Amino acid sequence: MKKILVIHGPNLNMLGKRETGIYGETTLTDINEALKNLAKELAVDVTVFQSNTEGALIDRIHEAAVEYDAIVINPAGYTHTSVALRDALAAVDIPAIEVHISNVYKREEFRQHSYISAVAVGQIAGFGVNSYLLGLRAAVDLVRSKQ
Ligand code: DQA
Repeated sequence: MKKILVIHGPNLNMLGKRETGIYGETTLTDINEALKNLAKELAVDVTVFQSNTEGALIDRIHEAAVEYDAIVINPAGYTHTSVALRDALAAVDIPAIEVHISNVYKREEFRQHSYISAVAVGQIAGFGVNSYLLGLRAAVDLVRSKQ
C-alpha cells in the first residue's frame, strides 16, 4: 500500500480557535479524521504530523524519505520564511505537494511568496479544509502514475 505523510506546520494545532474568519472552525483533529477517511476510500496509508518547530519538521521530512511515497505539506508561516524547510524537501527523493487552507494570494503581500513552491510538484490554496483532501488526491494520483 502506498504511504503518504501529511505535515502540518506551525500554529495549525490552533485551527478552530485561530483567526476563524480566515481559517474556519474546523479543528486539526477534524482535518486529520477527514484525511484518514479519504485515505481509506483511496486505499492508501496516511500518517499525520504537526509541529511548531522548524527543526522538528525538517527532521520528519528527512525520516520520511525512507518510508513514504509522497508528502502533503502545509508549511504555514514557514512557507514565507524558511529556506531550511525548502532545502529539506529538495534533499529528499519523494514528491511534495504544498497546500494552504486560505488563498494566500488574496492576503498580505508577504504571504505571496513561497519558498516551498519551487521544490513542490504543485500548490493547492484557498479551498479551506478541502485543500488538504485535494492535496491527498493529487499525491495519490502522482504516486500511482509512477508505478
Ligand atoms: C496557511 C497560510 C500561511 O500564510 C499562514 O502563515 C498559515 C496558514 C494556510 O493554510 O492558509 O499559518 O498556510
